[in-house]
Amino acid sequence: MAKALKERGAVAEAQPEVRLDTERDPIVVVDGLHIIYRVYSGGGGKGNAVSALRRIVKRQNRPQMKEVHAVKGVSFVAYRGDAIGVIGTNGSGKSTLLKAIAGLLPPARGAVYTDGQPSLLGVNAALMKDLSGARNIILGCLAMGMTPDETRAKYDEIVKFADLKPGFIDYPMSTYSSGMGARLRFAIAAARTHDVMLIDEALATGDAKFKKRSKAKIDELRQDAGAVFLVAHNLDVIEETCNRVIWLDDGRMKMDGDPETVLKAYTDATGK
Ligand SMILES: Nc1ncnc2c1ncn2[C@@H]1O[C@H](COP(=O)(O)OP(=O)(O)O)[C@@H](O)[C@H]1O
Ligand SMILES: [Mg+2]
Repeated sequence: MAKALKERGAVAEAQPEVRLDTERDPIVVVDGLHIIYRVYSGGGGKGNAVSALRRIVKRQNRPQMKEVHAVKGVSFVAYRGDAIGVIGTNGSGKSTLLKAIAGLLPPARGAVYTDGQPSLLGVNAALMKDLSGARNIILGCLAMGMTPDETRAKYDEIVKFADLKPGFIDYPMSTYSSGMGARLRFAIAAARTHDVMLIDEALATGDAKFKKRSKAKIDELRQDAGAVFLVAHNLDVIEETCNRVIWLDDGRMKMDGDPETVLKAYTDATGK
């Protein structure tokens, strides 16, 4: 019988060894991943049109490329049924890692392998502000690859899950509070099963009741043999929802282990 190569829950400091579990079915493999953003840093103060024109005319002092090394050699394996919380201070690379897993950012080095289609649900997930909630549900479902019949069948469930104030479903989404928008976004995304679901801060604005429903929904998604990644500022949400936590620090993996151990180490280190 296959034996776990390394005990689950084992936690190491700084760039931990990748834990391989040969009894479980891997769904995401992140292998020595580096993500580097290349941004133009204006060579002479503010990058306004006049200074840009002057630079072009003189052919000098061209804006220089600046590199931001956001993810620095991260490796881990996520298995079917994993709900992985990703924590770390602002700028530690959480959103970048999720975007890379979603295939939205090319690795500078290393690689990401996913089994199935990843879907990223973020604070900026594309819903149309000028359209009503109802239209967004339909468009969102179709965009996720559902058929019109499947969309119709799920419609009522989505409306119920989002729990908007009466009537709001027919108003443009620009009239929604951030909490209402977040709930609707999550409700739409959760209407379909995802192989790999990446949630970046999207639950941040929900109230306690909604958090409970989202947790139930995430549990359901995990049981449908997918993996869920969750970035949340609220560590309680992570503790209640996840079976595993990855702590990023300045683009490096600081810890990968069970929620209790990693969250305690994190709160001890950051005083949060
Ligand atoms: N589009 C971008 N262009 C350039 N740098 C970026 C971009 N997005 C993020 N960064 C930088 O990459 C690092 C990691 O950012 P991010 O992944 O957003 O962290 P987190 O989600 O943990 O707050 C930060 O230094 C941030 O400034
Ligand atoms: Mg972020």
